[in-house]
Amino acid sequence: MKILNVVYYSHLGNTGRFVRNHLVPSITEMEAPTHNGLVSHQIFGPGPHQPGIPTKPLFFSPAYADTNDFLLVFPCYGRTNPETRELEDMVPMPIRDFVKRVENENLGRIIGGVVCGNRTFGSDFTNVKGQFDYPVLGRVELAGSRTDADDIVSRLSHPALEIR
Ligand SMILES: Cc1cc2nc3c(=O)[nH]c(=O)nc-3n(C[C@H](O)[C@H](O)[C@H](O)COP(=O)(O)O)c2cc1C
Repeated sequence: MKILNVVYYSHLGNTGRFVRNHLVPSITEMEAPTHNGLVSHQIFGPGPHQPGIPTKPLFFSPAYADTNDFLLVFPCYGRTNPETRELEDMVPMPIRDFVKRVENENLGRIIGGVVCGNRTFGSDFTNVKGQFDYPVLGRVELAGSRTDADDIVSRLSHPALEIR
């Protein structure tokens, strides 16, 4: 039994719209489903650079580590360090903290991330370089489209993500 948990954070609403309007419907309509079930879970919080509001759904537990796969969907919110001029903190803190929890508490397998952004940021569009250690399965502009979602869903069948 494998559950795909789509865990997402959205500050201003675009990422949430992408997940609800395109990604979840696309996963639900997969012809050859990769998982036995789908759960979507939104992490709430006051802002991308502040901690999320802690939630602990019952099924996020080491007891379900073999059942839970996590797909993380989040917007890119880079900010420039005034001293180094480097872009930093592109992955929202609520997502960074969730990744740490999954790793430290052995809650399951993170199969990858989907990064939302805005092309007006040029070469920094969805730039999470060095800040996200899992495969990026898609880069989506604003609230994305069904085509974006279908592309991501086709990558869920990649042999590297095969269900063990
Ligand atoms: C302060 C700020 C920094 C941002 N930094 C980036 C960035 O580095 N790269 C990028 O592609 N988009 C960046 N964006 C655009 C957001 O990722 C984009 O608007 C996204 O759709 C927001 O998602 P949300 O509505 O779910 O919060 C930034 C937006 C703001 C307001």
